[in-house]
Order: sequence, then structure tokens, then C-alpha cells
Amino acid sequence: MRFIGNKENLVEKIYQIMLAKNIQGNSFFDFFAGTSNVGRFFKKKGYRVFSSDLLYFSYVLQKAYIENNEIANFEKLLSKLTIKNNALFANPLQQIVDYLNILPLQEGFISQNYTPQGTQNLEIPRMYFSNENGKIIDTIRIQIEVWKIENLITENEYFILLACLIETVPFYANISGVYAAFQKIWDARAVKKLILRPIEMVINDKENKVFNENSVNLISEIYTDILYLDPPYNQRQYAPNYHLLETIAKYDNPIIKGVSGMRSYENQKSQFCNAENALQDLYKIAKNASYNYLVLSYNSEGIMPQEKILQIFSLVGKVELVEFDYLRFKSNNNGDSKHKKIIQEQLYILQKND
Ligand SMILES: C[S@@+](CC[C@H](N)C(=O)[O-])C[C@H]1O[C@@H](n2cnc3c(N)ncnc32)[C@H](O)[C@@H]1O
Repeated sequence: MRFIGNKENLVEKIYQIMLAKNIQGNSFFDFFAGTSNVGRFFKKKGYRVFSSDLLYFSYVLQKAYIENNEIANFEKLLSKLTIKNNALFANPLQQIVDYLNILPLQEGFISQNYTPQGTQNLEIPRMYFSNENGKIIDTIRIQIEVWKIENLITENEYFILLACLIETVPFYANISGVYAAFQKIWDARAVKKLILRPIEMVINDKENKVFNENSVNLISEIYTDILYLDPPYNQRQYAPNYHLLETIAKYDNPIIKGVSGMRSYENQKSQFCNAENALQDLYKIAKNASYNYLVLSYNSEGIMPQEKILQIFSLVGKVELVEFDYLRFKSNNNGDSKHKKIIQEQLYILQKND
């Protein structure tokens, strides 16, 4: 998924560095989960994973990929649906996804507020999704909710289906990277008809647990061998930049404002988007959380200065900094051209004093 700070392409490197430093254990807390890619990686490695994020759509992904530990068979639902004979050999999730892909279209909150047809009375009609894709998103989202209300799917199956939708939507959104603004010209990807994609589930035999909380509130509850921190690194809050994924996940008809139709995010502001507050919370976490090793991912462009991070960590234990180059693609302010930039990725490794 396109997500600022997504560690999908870096997590193997981070893991190798951890192995080289002999940082291992049985449990792993992904404190700033985002896409849940890091938690997924460590779940595959056999760790018991805890994870949390302020964003609800991240929680949906965490529920489906991290906490869920069974291959969903959609038994109850499949016994009620008429599935075409030639589809019966597909796995159960694929059968449900295929069914959702051919439902008659309905209008709902997304088509009414984020497509040109639904917003034609606004001074600047919104162009986040094509008229058809807006309705497809509503149709699928409403159907998943109906199945939940009718008790035809389990909690796991509910989050798996929502995760399929959350993973699919970004492939069709008419944005240049984040949802704070839509593009004024249709991107080629946004005019293609949305086809729901199944997610790949990850199973291990551990009791993994996920949360939709300010992770700082969890430090007294969770003991972990490895505490992994991947906080926001600049002033840009995540909630407004991903407001549409949040609304599709919650589907709660929020009051929305402005050209982009933004929902309120008062309760989802991160302290890590302000240098001073970030350093205070970092100290609180390093000092009060229960862990063997704390690993902080940060980079050379982050708002917390390197010497301050080292200073804070050395109050608590033995700290080491590992740096490596990373080639990042950045959009310019208009989002229409991309350029490459090398930045230094940093891993701060802290071992607490006994
Ligand atoms: C850099 S991203 C993490 C990316 C993630 N490692 C990945 O691979 O997708 C930072 C995440 O921290 C979340 N966040 C910020 N402050 C938080 C807090 N106090 N508690 C929980 N999550 C927080 C944001 O919502 C965002 O999803």
C-alpha cells in the first residue's frame, strides 16, 4: 500500500541488522503499525506480535493480518449464497470477493461525497473516485456491513473483507500519494473499473493482539522482547492525509469539511509530529515500557535531532546507532513529477539498564 513511511521494502534490512546485533526474542511490539507490514514480517518469523495505531483503517489491517490466525472459510455465508458452479473450486475468500465484484451498484456516502456526480453542486466537484468506482466502493462496503449485522460472517471474516477493500482502494484513488487533495485531471489508474482483490493471510500459532490506541497508553500493559518504534518523522499528521481510508473503514457518515471533504481528526493527532512533544514521549516510552530491546526507525530528515535522541536513550541504557542509505522517491508539491533522493535511514538500538 502507498503509505508514508511504509517499511515494506526496508523490513528485511532492519531484520538483518537486528540479527547481526543478536537482537532476538519471542515477542515483538509494532508500536506505530501503519500498514502492519512490519508486524506481518515478524509474525511470519514466528514472533508473538502486538501492534497498535491511532488510525482505524490500520486497525482493520492489523486485525486481518496480525490478530487473525485462521484461514477464513466463510462457511455460514457460503451456505447462503448462490455461487456459480465454475467458481466453486476457488478458495472461500476468492469466492466471496468474486461475488462482491458483480453486485448491482448502489449509492452511498463515498459516491455522494467523493465523486464528480455526487458533488456536482459544489463549487469544485470532488474527483477522488470515478462515478462508477465510488458506487462500487459503497456497494461492497454496505454489503460487508449487512453480512455482519445479519451475523453471516465471523469477526475475523468481517475484518478480512474490510482489509481487502482498504488494500484495493488505493489502486483506484485519483490522488498523487495522500488523500489530503484529489488530482484535477483523472489519473489513468482512477478511470479503471475497481476490482476487489483478496488479501493474503498470514498464520502463526501465537496469540497476537492488536489495538486502535495511542500506543503510549499501552506501555504498562505489554511486556515484549522487542519494542519497535517507527513514529511519524515530520509535522504532517497521518489522519488528514488518509481521511478517506478512515471513512471507508469506519463508514460512519462523518461531518466533512472543505474542498477535500475532510473528517475531523481531533482525537488522532500524534505527539510525534512536534519535535518537543516527540522527545518527551520518546523518553516516557524508553523509560517506562517493558522490553529487552527497543529499536527506533528514524531518518536523517526527522524532526527529533539525532543528538537529543542519543541523549534521551543514554539516560535509560546502552544505545547504538546504525545508519544506511535509502533511495526514496519523492513527489514535488504538485505531485505531478517524482524525483529520487538519498536519505540516511537510522536504527537506534537501545538495551535498557537492569
Ligand atoms: C511511519 S508510520 C508507520 C509505518 C509502518 N511501520 C509501516 O510499515 O506501514 C507512523 C504511524 O504511527 C501512527 N501513530 C502516530 N502516533 C501514534 C501514537 N501515539 N500511537 C499509535 N500510533 C501512532 C500513525 O498513525 C502512522 O500510522
